[in-house]
Amino acid sequence: MSSDVIDLILSDHRRFEDLFRGLRDRSSDRSGLLGELSDVLVAHANAEEKEVYPALRRFRKVDDEEVEHGAEEHAEGHQALLALLEVDDTESQDWEDQLEELVETINHHVDEEERTILNEAREAVSEERRAELGEAFSAARVGELDDHPGRLDRVRELVSRTHNRVD
Ligand SMILES: [Fe+2]
Ligand SMILES: [Fe+2]
Repeated sequence: MSSDVIDLILSDHRRFEDLFRGLRDRSSDRSGLLGELSDVLVAHANAEEKEVYPALRRFRKVDDEEVEHGAEEHAEGHQALLALLEVDDTESQDWEDQLEELVETINHHVDEEERTILNEAREAVSEERRAELGEAFSAARVGELDDHPGRLDRVRELVSRTHNRVD
């Protein structure tokens, strides 16, 4: 498995898509899949913000504003995730509506991240440095996952912390 940070990020993005597909299916274990998605989404976003985004900001060819915008979109994703986690009945219309909202929010971010930040990183960052960043990203992500960052109370805390920062 490559340790290039771009490959690692792309492989998580594919995993989000697989989990979304499972979540759309009414016959699947929606609560189980949502728990898995929630942990991976939060761990991925936090590891990007901790290890990848700050490093990329230091490369002049990577647009600072895109990186900042990426972090804002993570906050929007966490908010949409919280709204879905807060609906108890996975068979309700409300649950379907919040899933649709989450999928749209995350797909929008993933699309933009791949088109801007990752393309710029491909051009501006050497393979060697991308491998180092990949190792830092993996370690941060695994540390996050061990802690189950996607639990309802943790996501609530994360969303309220972001609100306080913005206010
Ligand atoms: Fe990402
Ligand atoms: Fe991201």
